[in-house]
Amino acid sequence: MHGFAYRNGTLHCEDVDLEGLANEYGTPLYVYSANTFRDHYRRLDQALEGVDHEVAYAVKANSNLSVLRLLANEGAGFDIVSGGELFRVIKAGGDPKKCTFAGVGKTRGEIEYALKHGIYSFNVESEEELRYLNDVAADLGLIAPAAVRVNPNVDAKTHKYISTGKSENKFGVDFERIADLYDRAATELPHVQLRGLQMHIGSQLTSVKPFVEAVEKVAPLATVLKEKHGIEFWSIGGGIGIVYQDALGAGSIDWWDSQAEQDRPLTLAGYGREVVPRLRNLGLKILLEPGRAIAGNAGVLLTRCLYEKQGSAKTFKIVDAGMNDLIRPALYEGHHEIVPVKEPGSERKVVDVVGPICESGDFFCQDRELPEFGPGECIALMSAGAYGFVMASNYNTRPLPAEILVDGSTVSVVRKRQTLDDLIAAEL
Ligand code: LLP
Repeated sequence: MHGFAYRNGTLHCEDVDLEGLANEYGTPLYVYSANTFRDHYRRLDQALEGVDHEVAYAVKANSNLSVLRLLANEGAGFDIVSGGELFRVIKAGGDPKKCTFAGVGKTRGEIEYALKHGIYSFNVESEEELRYLNDVAADLGLIAPAAVRVNPNVDAKTHKYISTGKSENKFGVDFERIADLYDRAATELPHVQLRGLQMHIGSQLTSVKPFVEAVEKVAPLATVLKEKHGIEFWSIGGGIGIVYQDALGAGSIDWWDSQAEQDRPLTLAGYGREVVPRLRNLGLKILLEPGRAIAGNAGVLLTRCLYEKQGSAKTFKIVDAGMNDLIRPALYEGHHEIVPVKEPGSERKVVDVVGPICESGDFFCQDRELPEFGPGECIALMSAGAYGFVMASNYNTRPLPAEILVDGSTVSVVRKRQTLDDLIAAEL
């Protein structure tokens, strides 16, 4: 389910008309549906029923304080990748003891900060980092809880920039070297407590098969580590893909629902059904680190059409959002469904929707047949709730857009639009 649908001729987020929001707060504008975040979190939690588990939301997907607060209130844990993300979780009222810290390049400052706040586990990505963690903890007279990320060398069959579980990726420690590393760490690193095991094979996976393959490959290793080293948890990472194509149409039939399953390659319930039975008898706490599955379809980016330019080869709809606001199409050839906010008629045209940035990669779609819309009209780039605002930049000295959280009929500005003064405030 997601909270976006046409009602009375305009696209709504829950009970709120998006045309009205665009008029009041300007464009480009990110709009999020609070109930969609809640719904996705709860469905994931349910999907893992039957095994001791925790859903640790991947903060990187959407780190707005209000989003984190909402998920903390649901009982979520958090997977963080920087000191900055831990700072956000704490500010939002999240519990550091429910935080896992991923990433290949943690600094001393970040490690010290996380140690002092008593996070649940450092998910370590190399032997070198494990040794460094031990040294930093020793200097503070503390014991660092840790898990090593295993790279299972499984093909996630996703875009090469977001595939992480193959040997040629920079992530984790080779499967074959993990057991030996735990043995050595247990004797050589007294300031590290080996608490768990972690893996994450990639993002936007649209089939459950690679997850199953990775779980089946790594489960015997997890069992050995539990018996030998008393580990208590196994984080199986995030990566569950979402619907980007026809996100609005599919959303209206409640696409996470099991009834719609034959139309979708992967649902949360289907994921649970395949994965949970393979984890149930391990006697380990299972952590899941979803980002996109919770946030992706919970947000849209609203933008207004400025001009329609008729070139000799193409029709360009030039809009007021650019690749600096939503970089996924430029960076991963990511597909975002584009729909007019005013419910369209039957007229359609093949167009490129492009932004104002001075780069040819600044497009939201190319040669796509879309419902007709013209200058002055607002469109929604769907499924922009994950890896949208968080990857936005000030490129071309463009202020960051505002973010709005809708909860039923309640509208909250959860981040103000940057001003021109904000843009230069830190410059000396
Ligand atoms: N855990 C770890 C260790 C990760 O590296 C990631 C994502 C996640 C969990 C969450 O993955 P998710 O459930 O969201 O797929 N910017 C890209 C996606 C980058 C994902 C990075 N790691 C995009 O827009 O597609």
